[in-house]
Amino acid sequence: MDQNYVRIFDTTLRDGEQSPGASLTSPEKLEIARQLARLGVDIIEAGFPAASPDDLEAVRRIAEQVGNGPAGARVPIIAGLARANKNDIDKCWEAIQGAARPRIHTFLATSDIHLQYKLKMTRDQVLERVREMVTYARSFCADIEFSPEDAGRSDPEFLIQVLGVAIASGATTLNIPDTVGYTTPDEFGKLIATLIQKTPGSERAIFSAHCHDDLGMATANTLAAVRAGARQAEVTINGIGERAGNTSLEEVVMALYTRPAVFGLRTGIDTTQLARTSKMVSNYTSIPVQPNKAIVGANAFAHEAGIHQDGMLKNQLTYEIMRPETVGVSASQLVLGKHSGRHAFKTHLDALGFALNEHDLDQAFARFKELADKKKYVTDADLEALIADEFYQPLEVFRLEDIQVVCGRHGMPTATVCLLGPDSAEHFHAAIGTGPVDATYKAIDAIVNAPCTLLEFSIHAVTEGIDALGEVTVRLQSNEPEPRTFGGHGADTDIIVASAKAYLAALNKLVVADKQTPRVHAQFSVAAS
Ligand code: KIV
Ligand code: ZN
Repeated sequence: MDQNYVRIFDTTLRDGEQSPGASLTSPEKLEIARQLARLGVDIIEAGFPAASPDDLEAVRRIAEQVGNGPAGARVPIIAGLARANKNDIDKCWEAIQGAARPRIHTFLATSDIHLQYKLKMTRDQVLERVREMVTYARSFCADIEFSPEDAGRSDPEFLIQVLGVAIASGATTLNIPDTVGYTTPDEFGKLIATLIQKTPGSERAIFSAHCHDDLGMATANTLAAVRAGARQAEVTINGIGERAGNTSLEEVVMALYTRPAVFGLRTGIDTTQLARTSKMVSNYTSIPVQPNKAIVGANAFAHEAGIHQDGMLKNQLTYEIMRPETVGVSASQLVLGKHSGRHAFKTHLDALGFALNEHDLDQAFARFKELADKKKYVTDADLEALIADEFYQPLEVFRLEDIQVVCGRHGMPTATVCLLGPDSAEHFHAAIGTGPVDATYKAIDAIVNAPCTLLEFSIHAVTEGIDALGEVTVRLQSNEPEPRTFGGHGADTDIIVASAKAYLAALNKLVVADKQTPRVHAQFSVAAS
């Protein structure tokens, strides 16, 4: 393998999914995994199989369907996370064994704070556990990653001992997490260099960086790590993840791409897929991308100041260090209109990477025709929003059948909603609110009866123009005893319909989750042997 190649380990579906409210349905996870494969990531961390039977099943499906391909095709490694105990490792192996290239990623904390308060283990016990569990994982699989959790706050001398034991027991990748986003680029780069230099057997392993963004230094720390010799970067799309998030994939990849003279390193990422992947993850997780987010934010390539615009007209190099096309941002292309036929529609979906069966294609085509009747031009962005709205919604416990809203300046905004319930009956309710969306949500609440608080509501137009498709994202929190956050998205040319769909999608997730056993959280539970 090229010494200058940096492996991209994407953990959007595991650490990213640990963002509050980001919980994804199984079909959403599968679709994101397919897109990550298209993007060209080397490793997909598909989940934490011991967290719940649903998580195990989602990882299993990704391993079988995304982790395999025709002979000679480049397929990503599929990794699953496991605490350093037999039960987690067994579940992880059960989930990933169907992949052509499976990887078990096991971890144990090494900082004194975690040993004393969380694990209640001595350093010797940690060394013994690492020896036993890496050996156990290796009995299933040749590709083993070990992470000393909270490495950023661990004693480097102890880390060297732990990593030495992990390599001697069969670990092939050593991932160094700055779990709480505490280190600075200088410190983290030096830590990686020291570990590579002093760990016995380090020449047989790939060193990896896994940073969190609590102090806004995750990308800088990861870049410092690769300059110091790490050859794997653990990242998420849009930088989503625990608390302030993880290192953002697009930032690391584009820094390496744009500054070859500084880094002299390369990745296997198809950068033209970045914008699309970002959009998909934002939609499915209901976590909007801030407009000024590097690389994928709506303003990342916008030039507002007159002096900048003038410079850009003279030469793009004046204010642009990357071309928008390089990351897949281009003016929405006009693709289809109301006279386009089924064949043209299918060809466009194929080109966008959506492989629908005949039944789903019929359904999508009907939605497209409806849209094309209302909207003159249907663009790639419209098609992506339409497919997400139609197919990547959570299980529909309640379905929006109809909605009618009356609003205006001098009346009482009123919404009448009809939902098809799990009992297959139609339920009607009318409510008055402070505005049409409020009235709609009150009517839906009265039918669904799942007490919750709306945390966030955002709406944006998919494309420019008065006839644009509106896309709504909501996040809500279930009430006591155990508050949990759920997100939902919906798209329609009628923004009240889009708002109703988004709210209902989040409520459907809440209703389903209420019936399930609670998930185990990787970082907050003690590893038992
Ligand atoms: O941040 C962290 O320490 C992790 C590990 C499980 C790798 O996510
Ligand atoms: Zn993490």
